[in-house]
Amino acid sequence: MKEIIEKLKKRKINLAWKPTPVELLENFPHPAKIYIKRDDYTGLISSGNKIRKLEYCLYDAKEKGCDTLITCGGIQSNHCRVTVYAGRKTGFDVYLVLRGTPPEITQGNFLLDKLMSAKIKYVTYEEYKERINEIMEELAEELKKQDKKPYIIPEGASNEVGCLGYIECMEEMKEFVEKENIEAIYLAVGSGGTYAGLLLGKKLLNANVKIIGVIVCDSIKFFKGKIEDICHKAIFQYELPLSVSSEDVELIEGYIGAGYAIPYEEEIETIKEMAKYGIILDPVYTGKAFYGMLKESKEFKKILFLHTGGIFSVFAYSREIIQ
Ligand SMILES: Cc1ncc(COP(=O)(O)O)c(C=O)c1O
Repeated sequence: MKEIIEKLKKRKINLAWKPTPVELLENFPHPAKIYIKRDDYTGLISSGNKIRKLEYCLYDAKEKGCDTLITCGGIQSNHCRVTVYAGRKTGFDVYLVLRGTPPEITQGNFLLDKLMSAKIKYVTYEEYKERINEIMEELAEELKKQDKKPYIIPEGASNEVGCLGYIECMEEMKEFVEKENIEAIYLAVGSGGTYAGLLLGKKLLNANVKIIGVIVCDSIKFFKGKIEDICHKAIFQYELPLSVSSEDVELIEGYIGAGYAIPYEEEIETIKEMAKYGIILDPVYTGKAFYGMLKESKEFKKILFLHTGGIFSVFAYSREIIQ
């Protein structure tokens, strides 16, 4: 299986700072010892989980002879910010389809998108929900008429290509997880690709650790289906000798609050508490996932939190975080 991973790793453009470190959260009052895999250190403007996925997507785009990236997300999308950065580093033009209208104050991820001269198209919440993939296809058709060669990256780069980045991350963690007897890895699940890659990596490497996703939107049913689908497509496309079923996918719910990207009191308290330990969580993903992990991991002795980044949205949520 090692050779299979080595072969997959040739299908990427190196952009992330890796391997990321793992640190112990010292003197933290919790029944389990908590380690943190610092994927918020994958870079500065490229910080977080998305750059690992984009390394593989951009390789695929170059291989297909494309010169322009199209992707989508919310106004404060981490994924969009990292796509613009990765595109700028590797010579792609980047178009973003963002949900909503331009905000009054240009800040956080959106500020960086603008600074790096992303070309932005805004769509309503309804349009985004109903037909975002079609909208990106239509944009691609328009760009082709201008002699561009567009490559569409789906929301969160969560497809069979992007998920390969987290097979690699699982490989990075395997030795540590086994040496330290880590019982479970916790992470935020927002579009499913990170979880899918970790699960494929766990199976390829025969790693003996639970992977527990805390969903930050939608439902367990939705994500079980989506993660299974991403895994099946990757298994097919890269001829991986394994199988995945929805029973392999372990998710917990109850930590979304009023909705996606809407922070709540206990989450904000967790963000503030963790900041005292020098760990900055974000209000959309890692704050909810870390809070969920603290509530649901009391039976374990040693756990690991995959910190997937999101630092720039902290600035966009300053009012909610510090009243
Ligand atoms: C900071 C952060 N953490 C976690 C996630 C969730 O990862 P995934 O979309 O692969 O489920 C995202 C993106 O959705 C993110 O931006």
